[in-house]
Amino acid sequence: MSNAKRVLLIVSGGIAAYKSLEVIRRLRERGIAVRCILTAGGAQFVTPLSLSAISGDKVYGELFSLTDEAEMGHIQLSRDADLLLVAPATADILARMTQGLANDLATTALLATDKPVMVAPSMNVRMWTHPATQANLASLKARGTLFVGPNEGDMACGEYGPGRLAEPEEIVTAVERFFQSGSRLEGLRALVTSGPTHEAIDPVRYIANRSSGKQGHAIAQALADLGADTTLVSGPTSLPDPERVRVKHVRSAEEMLAACLDSLPSDVAVCAAAVADWKVAAAANQKLKKGDEGPPSLTLTANPDILARLAEPGAQRPRLVIGFAAETEKVIEHATAKRQRKGCDWILANDVSAESGTFGGDDNSIHLISADANESWPRMSKRQVAACLAERVATHFESRRA
Ligand code: CTP
Repeated sequence: MSNAKRVLLIVSGGIAAYKSLEVIRRLRERGIAVRCILTAGGAQFVTPLSLSAISGDKVYGELFSLTDEAEMGHIQLSRDADLLLVAPATADILARMTQGLANDLATTALLATDKPVMVAPSMNVRMWTHPATQANLASLKARGTLFVGPNEGDMACGEYGPGRLAEPEEIVTAVERFFQSGSRLEGLRALVTSGPTHEAIDPVRYIANRSSGKQGHAIAQALADLGADTTLVSGPTSLPDPERVRVKHVRSAEEMLAACLDSLPSDVAVCAAAVADWKVAAAANQKLKKGDEGPPSLTLTANPDILARLAEPGAQRPRLVIGFAAETEKVIEHATAKRQRKGCDWILANDVSAESGTFGGDDNSIHLISADANESWPRMSKRQVAACLAERVATHFESRRA
């Protein structure tokens, strides 16, 4: 049982709370261990005894229970889980999650966790469609919270519309799919470039740009999370190395190209680095002195285009080569031309116009352009862009395997 996946199920108040018993039963049938937190509202609809009987484990309810804390600290509860599942999730708990409140055990566990969170909302149609709930939904999604349902249908209150808890089977399937997603790219190799490059002027000075590397690092992490054997070639950044990723630290564009070529073969390459277009033609071997001649003039020469080089036809060409394009106007037109010029398969066009608010922000406005498609993604965080891209890459290879 040690390899069994573990779900921390949070049952909040709602007429559909009884369905959580069926969710537990079906999760356990699939070998997934379940431990429950029952909110005070939830306890109005199901009893701790029934949850405990079905889950085969103790049920947690109070934040400051001395006996519970002695057995299992409330932080430990979420540490022990692979996934936190809130089902049913009321409008109230969604609002508290959005605000980051920690006023009961359930919200404390949700705030204290760095584990993935999946939510199955259940509420009256007017509560669901209320702008407050929809704003909470959008902000939770932007943080990476996963959602299953709600469904549309007859409600206990006699109304009809969206807000019904997803069926237990749908919830369990979503959980299973989530656990399986960790192997969708298993057996495939991925290469990602990230960050800026530093082009030496002399041993202590260099030309650089403001790239943070956040997007490229997130992509490497997302590909590794789906099971790809991932190499990240990173220019200088202040970011920690992603987990389960082979990281090659480089400085210049030349070093980045050499590290990329050295990392081939690869099935997919994603070039997210902001590679300097130019380098100093003859970088000095010794520190330049101020001297009498005044400021030196620097002659620049073109750097290799790593994306174009990786996309060149040949035995070592990754099967899927993906680049980025930062555009301020005519986004689709310019990115389409860039895709052809560089010879890559997909371009993620990044709208960096002043109106888009992308520059300096944590969000991205992406258009994915390929030979036969051009799709606009909703505005989302860089982490979400990474997760979406990794999903798309997985779907691409799955459709070719089929
Ligand atoms: N790229 C690269 N090597 C370079 C320059 C760019 O690998 N020497 C990659 C980047 O990682 C990115 C894409 O090419 O995937 C961006 O192409 P680029 O021509 O630099 O486009 P923009 O940054 O959008 O700039 P511009 O519109 O000025 O061409």
